[in-house]
Amino acid sequence: MSKNIAIDGPAGAGKSTIAKQIAKRLNYIYVDTGAMYRAMALYLMRQEVNPADVEQIGRVCQNASISIAYENGEQVVYLNGENVNAYLRTEEVGNMASATSVVPKLREKLVSLQKELAAQKDCVMDGRDIGTCVLPKADVKIYLTASSLVRARRRMEELLAKGQSADLETIKADIEERDYRDMHRETSPLCQAKDAVLVDNSDMTLEQGVERILEVCKEKGLLS
Ligand code: DC
Repeated sequence: MSKNIAIDGPAGAGKSTIAKQIAKRLNYIYVDTGAMYRAMALYLMRQEVNPADVEQIGRVCQNASISIAYENGEQVVYLNGENVNAYLRTEEVGNMASATSVVPKLREKLVSLQKELAAQKDCVMDGRDIGTCVLPKADVKIYLTASSLVRARRRMEELLAKGQSADLETIKADIEERDYRDMHRETSPLCQAKDAVLVDNSDMTLEQGVERILEVCKEKGLLS
């Protein structure tokens, strides 16, 4: 049976950076489920769907075929056969993904794809509902978080490094709004699974966060 590590937490906690390193150390694949919700959001934006129309989203999302592949060790998301990686990381797509991921029919479609992947391969999967809903029997469950101020600062540094302008207060407000939506939606809200280990990396370096999670993997026998 395949081995699965579930990492959940709010936006900007460092899940993908840390999950990728854990996957590398264990020689597992890394599955970024947020990228799947983003690809679906991109499709809905292109179809000019109203983000508040649950019925329309539930219907239109059935026409999107999402799959993932690994090219040069990186996850590539295909939307109806098109590699859409280059379009997924904008704030606009992220906000649309947060708004549309509340729709149960859309979630059903992506969750079944995620379960299939995890059944086939040893993986580190990150998202919002992995330990609670997608992989309730995961070998290791981590809830990774940091304060909204720390997450906003990290995001601001990323934007500044790309030469984009950024205002800390605006980014923090945006992060808090996204947290609220992700934690209060009716279907599979973001929350810590009862058997998940809490890792708050507000005061940790990236390496310390990775080491802490590897310790948990060792305790569970996934690493000697
Ligand atoms: O992790 P991210 O920022 O790429 O995710 C974008 C949005 O997708 C996030 O705000 C909520 C949604 N999402 C979800 O509902 N469930 C997941 N497992 C992953 C992401």
